[in-house]
Amino acid sequence: MFPKDTYVKRRNLLKAQVPSGLILLPGNDESPINFANNAYPFRQDSTFLYFFGLDLPGLAAIIDVDEGTECVFGTDPTVEEIVWTGPLPLLRDRCEQVGVTHTATPDKLEAILSEAVQKNRTVHVLPQDRPENVLKIWRWLGIAPGVLHKYLSDPLIRAVVRQRSVKSAEEIEQIEAALAISCEMHTTAMRLTRPGVVEREIAAAINAIAMSHGVQLAFPTIFSRHGETLHNPCYENALKAGDIVVHDSGAESPLHYAGDITRTIPVSGRFSPRQKEIYAIVQTAQERAVASAKPGVEWREVHRLAAVSLMQGLRELGVVKGDPQEAVAAGAHTLFFPCGLGHMIGLDVHDMEGLGEDYVGYTETIKRNPAFGWRSLRLAKPVEPGYAVTVEPGIYFIPHLIDRWKAERRCEPFIDYDRLEAWRHSNGVRIEDCILITKDGCRILGPHIPRTIEEVEALASA
Ligand code: GLY
Repeated sequence: MFPKDTYVKRRNLLKAQVPSGLILLPGNDESPINFANNAYPFRQDSTFLYFFGLDLPGLAAIIDVDEGTECVFGTDPTVEEIVWTGPLPLLRDRCEQVGVTHTATPDKLEAILSEAVQKNRTVHVLPQDRPENVLKIWRWLGIAPGVLHKYLSDPLIRAVVRQRSVKSAEEIEQIEAALAISCEMHTTAMRLTRPGVVEREIAAAINAIAMSHGVQLAFPTIFSRHGETLHNPCYENALKAGDIVVHDSGAESPLHYAGDITRTIPVSGRFSPRQKEIYAIVQTAQERAVASAKPGVEWREVHRLAAVSLMQGLRELGVVKGDPQEAVAAGAHTLFFPCGLGHMIGLDVHDMEGLGEDYVGYTETIKRNPAFGWRSLRLAKPVEPGYAVTVEPGIYFIPHLIDRWKAERRCEPFIDYDRLEAWRHSNGVRIEDCILITKDGCRILGPHIPRTIEEVEALASA
């Protein structure tokens, strides 16, 4: 965990941001795969982890903003648990490490909350990702699962998002530690990718690297020759000479900060001339996006700039026509780039997404654009120093989408559907890195991971 002071300061800042009442932060429990003693690897709730740093199941915390007090609720290990798991520290000893002096058993938490409800005190709650925490809130506060969304605390969500959005130097160190492991995952994949191998064999080798470092994956690995499917969860294809593979993966750091990198790999070690053309267009778009990212710039404008760059490149290939700016204004780019340019990264790979995308990526004045493609942007608002963000442009030839748009004659002034036919089986190319917004620009986080055509080919054919 971080030094005690980090957690004390984070909680003090939170207390200063929330007007009054109790802040209730449930931690996560073990989550059974098929029965209670056969659980998925434990992952703590990210907001609980951020404020309390305690990486173990069965805890919850209350911060009393009016009294300025904090208490962690949980139980000490029983003799049976120690027999199964070995010696474990007492709760109060763990809490001492994160500057919390009050601990109590879960029944006390129920009593405190019940008294708060009787006295009409505000109990601030966040959106919950785990069903068991939704049920606990029902039991503790009488808020039924179906109506919890009406009782969420707007001031608490805003305060948490504000705080977690700006990463400290020690958090950036963690993201870079995650990226160092992610780098190993990517370079290994480049070396192992070759004709005849089945995707899952390489996906397994990628995942094993995270495990060998004693950390978890930040999200399920994507390794697919069908990279045009944005989050392809399937690994059953045998790779053939001439294929390209989209590999999007990242490890967590020891303190659970995420890495998130995408590279596109030629299966035979060399990109074909066509693949090179597409790759170069995506790379240019990424470079332009990175060059334009600085404090105060709206991320939707960085997205737009990347989209225009992609359309300029596709016009040179002859599949797009007209003015690229106008093409983007008409939404024509969303045929090839139907997703956002990037998202915040931190304790969650899509950082704080569980608290609500609109809180994280939008403001009172910068609202979500409901148009196809634009509505997928997770981040649109101006970026600030300390934000860690992914930059991940791509070009995707999605046959289903091409056919649908062609039949609807959609954006016809900007798309040459006849010429596009020759590209329909070109799959997808994505390049993704994580950046930190600095006070006057940005920097790419983590070690350099082969990115140019030459760099990727050098490793892929090694
Ligand atoms: N790179 C995985 C994701 O953004 O979901």
